Amino acid sequence: MEKIQSLLARRNPAYALEQAFYNDPDIFNIDLEMIHYRDWLFAIPACELEKPGSYVTHKVGSYRVVIVRGADNEIRAFHNSCRHRGSIICKAAKGHAPKLVCPYHQWTYELDGSLLWARDMGPDFNPKNHGLKTVHCEVVKGLVYICLADNAPDFAPFRAEMESYLALHDLENSKVAFESTIIEKGNWKLVWENNRECYHCAGNHPSLCRTFPEDPNATGNSLDGEDPELLIKHVARCEAIGAPSAYKEAAMGDWRFVRTPLLGSGESYTMDGKVAVIKPNSSIPFKDAGSLMQFHYPTTWNHYLSDHSLVFRVTPISATETEVSTKWLVHKDAVEGLDYDLKRLTEVWIETNDEDRQVVEDNQFGINSPAYEPGPYSPSHEGGVIQFVNWYCNTLSSRLAPKAIAAE
Ligand code: FES
Ligand SMILES: [Fe+2]
Repeated sequence: MEKIQSLLARRNPAYALEQAFYNDPDIFNIDLEMIHYRDWLFAIPACELEKPGSYVTHKVGSYRVVIVRGADNEIRAFHNSCRHRGSIICKAAKGHAPKLVCPYHQWTYELDGSLLWARDMGPDFNPKNHGLKTVHCEVVKGLVYICLADNAPDFAPFRAEMESYLALHDLENSKVAFESTIIEKGNWKLVWENNRECYHCAGNHPSLCRTFPEDPNATGNSLDGEDPELLIKHVARCEAIGAPSAYKEAAMGDWRFVRTPLLGSGESYTMDGKVAVIKPNSSIPFKDAGSLMQFHYPTTWNHYLSDHSLVFRVTPISATETEVSTKWLVHKDAVEGLDYDLKRLTEVWIETNDEDRQVVEDNQFGINSPAYEPGPYSPSHEGGVIQFVNWYCNTLSSRLAPKAIAAE
C-alpha cells in the first residue's frame, strides 16, 4: 500500500506512469481490489443468452461468475461457486441448461439461483438458505454489466445516458456475427492507454486509417482542442434526426460518449469505407453516421455504426497479460452471405486488434527494462491517455485514502 501511495504522490501527470504500475504483482492486485472488484464491468451482449437456460461464464481476477437467462427471461448473474463445498458449477465458457447442476454432488439450482435439490442433507437442512450468491447485474440497451462489490455504485446515471445515446441502435434485436478473443502480453492499463490515442494509428493501422480519423479533435480526444467544424456539423446533422451525438463525459471521467464522423464519405470500418451490412441494426436514416464511441472504464470501449456495432471487453489476467474480446453485432435477421460478408465485416478490426496487440506487447517489453523512464505525453495527441491515467490515479488515490475518523 505504502509503495503505491508514494508512487501516486510523486507522479508527474504530464508523463507516463512508472514501471511498477505495469508489472508489479502487488499493484496488479490493488488494481483488482480497488477497481475491478468495485466498479461496474461490461460482461456480454444480452443477445448471447438466446433463450431461458442460456448461460455464459466469466472470470474476473479470483471471481468466477455465471450469467444466465431465467425461465422468466430475466438475466441474472451469480457467483459460480456451489453453496455445498464450493465447486465451480458451470465449467463451459457458454452453454444451455434447464437447471444449474453442480458436477461434484449434483446439488441442483433453478435458473434464478434458488437451490432446488440436494440429496440426503438431513431434516434440519433448509434449501432456502443455500441459493447461489448473486452478483449485481444490469441490462441496458442490450448490454449486460455486472458488479462484484457488495454495494454497487449507482448505475442509474450511466443507464440514462446509454438509453439516450443508443436510442437508434437496436442491440436488443441483434446477434453476434463474429467474436474474437486475444491475450495481449501487456498490463490492462497499457491496453487502455493505447486505445485512448491515435498518435500510433498512422504508423500501425493501415486498414483502420482508411476510415478512422487520427485527428484527436475529430474524436474528442484532445484535452484542450476546439471541436473542429467537421465534428460540430456531424453532431448537428445526427442530432437533427434524433440521434444524441454531442461529446459527454462522466464527472468522474469513467465513461464517455461522442458520435464522430469517419474520414471523407466513410460509412463503416471496411476496406472500401462502405457499409458492411445491408440490413442495419440501427434506424439512423443515413449510412454515413460515423461511429458513436462509448467507453466505460475499466472494461469496455464500443463503436456503434449505422450498419453494425462493435463491443470490446478488457479483462486483466495478470500484471502483464490482458484478455481483449471483440464482438461484431449485426441485426438478428441479417443473413451471412446475403446481407453481409463475414470477411468484409470483420477484417479491419481483426487486423487492427492484432496491430494493437503488437504495440501493447512491445510497450510492455520496453517498460520491463530497468532502463525504462517515463516520458512526456504529446499534449495534442495523447489527451485521451492523460484522461485515462488521471481517472485511474484519482480513483486509486481516493479509494486508498485513509477513511476520516469521526470525531468522538
Ligand atoms: S460442491 Fe457442489 S454439490 Fe458438492
Ligand atoms: Fe490502435
